[in-house]
Amino acid sequence: MNSPFVMVIFGATGDLSLSKLIPSLFSLFQKKKLNSQFFIIGFSRRNLDDSLFRDFIQAESHFNYSNNRSDWEEFSKHMYYQKGMFNEEEGYRALIDRLNEFDKKIGACVTRIFYFATPPDAYTTILEKLTTTKLSDGCGQGSSKWTRIVVEKPFGKDVETARTLDKKLSQIFEEKQIFRADHYLGKETVQNMIAFRFANGIFEPVWNKQYIDHVQITWGEKRGIGKRGTFFDGLGLLRDVGQNHLMQLLATVAMEQPTHFSKEAIRDARFRAIDAVQCIKPEETNAVVVRGQYKGYKSEPHVSSSSRTETFVALKLFVRTSRFEGVPFYIRAGKMIKEDIAEISIVFHQTCHLLFKEYGCPEIGNVLKIRIQPNEGIGMRVIAKKPGKTLALGTVDMKFTYQEEFGEKLSDGYEKLLLDILLGDQMLFNRSDELESSWEFITEILKGWEIENGELYEYEPGTWGPTQALELIEKDGRKWL
Ligand code: BG6
Repeated sequence: MNSPFVMVIFGATGDLSLSKLIPSLFSLFQKKKLNSQFFIIGFSRRNLDDSLFRDFIQAESHFNYSNNRSDWEEFSKHMYYQKGMFNEEEGYRALIDRLNEFDKKIGACVTRIFYFATPPDAYTTILEKLTTTKLSDGCGQGSSKWTRIVVEKPFGKDVETARTLDKKLSQIFEEKQIFRADHYLGKETVQNMIAFRFANGIFEPVWNKQYIDHVQITWGEKRGIGKRGTFFDGLGLLRDVGQNHLMQLLATVAMEQPTHFSKEAIRDARFRAIDAVQCIKPEETNAVVVRGQYKGYKSEPHVSSSSRTETFVALKLFVRTSRFEGVPFYIRAGKMIKEDIAEISIVFHQTCHLLFKEYGCPEIGNVLKIRIQPNEGIGMRVIAKKPGKTLALGTVDMKFTYQEEFGEKLSDGYEKLLLDILLGDQMLFNRSDELESSWEFITEILKGWEIENGELYEYEPGTWGPTQALELIEKDGRKWL
């Protein structure tokens, strides 16, 4: 069980806090996973007090707390509010008094977690204020080991800004205090990739270029950017989900077996996989990267009417390891597309024709599908003889879903991350070298778009993105699954 803690959420009235953090903390509370002594302090500009903050969360959150009235009433007693401007010391000073009060109440240094749930351009200002007010020094100003800091993605906006931010963080905090969050690492299905690949002896021998033809990763949401225009416009999908979630999904496929199941060994393996992704040179960008924007995006609230921000990306990349040399990875991701989906497909070489050429082999042979969400599970497509007197072949899927097997509704990753932060376990958090490598890859594409003045294709909402994304894979004689 975790010890008493206080979590200060900077940007507590924003989307991340409303849609993910507070609902996840509430769910952990209901599951009795939190220490009975905990305090959540919302820190934000709005003119609220503790009680108005509780009402605000209840009214604005994407979660329906009224179905759980008595739990909510208990939980919300742990919530407090501190009004403050990020760039003014006054709010931070009042925060110190509150934190000291909690320490006094418990009679010890309560673990302090500073959660940055703000737009990324506020990070540096908050870090500076944490330093000048000595909040970064921790309880009683001098026991910083009880202080943890959680930084959300996007961590910077290119490789240079990511490095600068990381430098700043490491001047103030020790590495073991810094939690760089990517909630995809907390998803069960993503964590399961290590177990699936390395606990089942049958996969390792075929997990390489000799057997794998190519890999596809598809990520999409049916909804558009909703109320997040201010955050999203100018940021774009490549930075929003490409630099982090998609690179981490890729790492689960491309990584080598970690030397052991420990924090640094797993982070080493993830880093090496991401570091091996071959950068796309600016002059190659238009040939292997397609970017799109859904029709109607420019009329979304807080979006510029001349915006060139992408809401869709499809690309082809290679991972330079002896395991995957020459195996293309096709990735596509978009907002306002046909399905809510996050899925990895490992497509194996088609060998059916060796024996069954005259009997008509299905176009695609064996495919291992890892469904990250929804309907979390794993499926293996195999070729089988269709029942009948003559030989005809078809494909069938062998499937397992978490819901059917374990009867559990999986959480979106935040609950796991929050618990790990409370326990001080960093295995599922980015190390700075992972981030730097993925930013190097993404920054080259951003440069390519700028230098080559890359096309931005419009696509109809509810489709799989612009037709150019189909051409990207079809010109190689392959198809999106
Ligand atoms: C966030 C992105 O990190 O992940 C959002 O900023 C995206 O744009 C979200 O919608 C998706 O998370 P999940 O857990 O719903 O797949």
